[in-house]
Amino acid sequence: MARAGKASDGAAMPVKNASKVGPHYPQVLVLVGATGDLSKRKLLPGLFHLCRAGFIPGCRIIGVSLDDLDADGFRELARKALEQFSKRKLLETDWAEFSQILDYVPMSAGAGAVKAAVEAAERALPGESRRIHYLSVPPSAALSAVRLLAEAGLAADSRIIMEKPFGTDLASAVSLNARLHEVFAEEQIFRIDHFLGKEAAQNILAFRFANGLFEPIWNRNFIDHVQIDVPETLGLAQRASFYEATGAFRDMVVTHLFQILAFVAMEPPTSLEPAPISEEKNKVFRSMLPIDPRNVVRGQYTGYRSEEGVDPESDTETFIALRCAIDNWRWAGVPFFLRTGKRLAEGQRIISLAFREPPKSMFPLGSGVGSQGPDHLTFDLADASKMSLSFYGKRPGPGMRLDKLSLQFAMRDTGLMGEVLEAYERLILDAMRGDRTLFTTAEGIERLWEVSVPLLESPPPVRLYPPGSWGPKSIHQLVAPHAWRLPFERTWRDPDRLGS
Ligand code: BG6
Repeated sequence: MARAGKASDGAAMPVKNASKVGPHYPQVLVLVGATGDLSKRKLLPGLFHLCRAGFIPGCRIIGVSLDDLDADGFRELARKALEQFSKRKLLETDWAEFSQILDYVPMSAGAGAVKAAVEAAERALPGESRRIHYLSVPPSAALSAVRLLAEAGLAADSRIIMEKPFGTDLASAVSLNARLHEVFAEEQIFRIDHFLGKEAAQNILAFRFANGLFEPIWNRNFIDHVQIDVPETLGLAQRASFYEATGAFRDMVVTHLFQILAFVAMEPPTSLEPAPISEEKNKVFRSMLPIDPRNVVRGQYTGYRSEEGVDPESDTETFIALRCAIDNWRWAGVPFFLRTGKRLAEGQRIISLAFREPPKSMFPLGSGVGSQGPDHLTFDLADASKMSLSFYGKRPGPGMRLDKLSLQFAMRDTGLMGEVLEAYERLILDAMRGDRTLFTTAEGIERLWEVSVPLLESPPPVRLYPPGSWGPKSIHQLVAPHAWRLPFERTWRDPDRLGS
């Protein structure tokens, strides 16, 4: 059982929430890729918060990467990362405790040194502890990291979190799974897709299956089409080499967007346990038709090729929009439009379901009915998530003029925003507890690579788009006769300004 720790060790972090939602045992976490962008932006700040808030009853973190650092160098890097990326204020007392739980082993020191660091960390923790490894490395480096852990004898009785993308195509994903299974059993592997850890993504399940209101109309008879749209204003930051070898499809679509699509499209699972949820998601993936390259727009923002670390003749897409189909009883004939890209006009993460229009209209021409598109149910996947249902209603006054109105819900209205865990925090905590509900499976991932084969084999040419736009012009043909839901014609209501 977790116990309060000694003053100088990780367990001394305040256990304020009695760890009801966290793991029972202190954790030794080997973070491979510890000096990378994801580690700095999300993992170190996330682990800091989990420790500080008392979700983990004692923790030691051993950073491992190619960089030739020592423990102090890693602490310095971690401190800078927290200062730059943590959403919470960094108090000196909290940092003093957190810095003590950090250690570092350069990859060049070899498996023996990693093993020694893990054993030292275990000795510093009170009582029994558990081992968890986080592989925050690109697909090409995943296997050598797994081999390092195996050679160090750290695989048995441990858990391993693997970052996406999992492989780069069907053959590499199948081979990675096979090689991984030589070292780790499937139950030990947690393939992370942080979009599934977003509060708003899980709320799709609650919204669909905890209510009787929408599920009866959640099908091809009532829904006209679906959009999953994740434009980003962000460029490459420090990730040119990763991105060049990855591109928007592998970075975002085959991972995050398809996983979200499964939450939108799946049948009700028999329970909220990992196996029934995975089974329903995998059924959606099995029903997906292979992606037809004619239904794909690949884009690249102007200027990408002259960025540092990018091939001047690069064919990597920084933008992708596509139409896909789920050929089952619920969704046959309903197009799903997906879009994401870098350096676009706005940063948004929305899912939008467009409802079919009424079969006949008795409203006079010019009344405005239908003029602003169909009724929509829209989910905003931001941490401060929102939801909106838009419909036509009468404009007050004489005559019959119709306006698009909406019912909106904002998470901030609940006053519980402080309780929201950042996606990575939530998923790291789940993995430490051994809960695989929100993680992806080998079967699901392999099927997604399988439906991607036609696109990966014959990708359409990349089309240029100006930074700050919504992508190449041909995105409008792709979605016609419908229209992209973004940019919104009206902004979300701001809950902070209500009643002012
Ligand atoms: C990551 C991608 O997985 O997700 C990034 O590698 C992308 O390219 C990021 O920017 C988006 O995540 P979020 O949580 O900021 O929407």
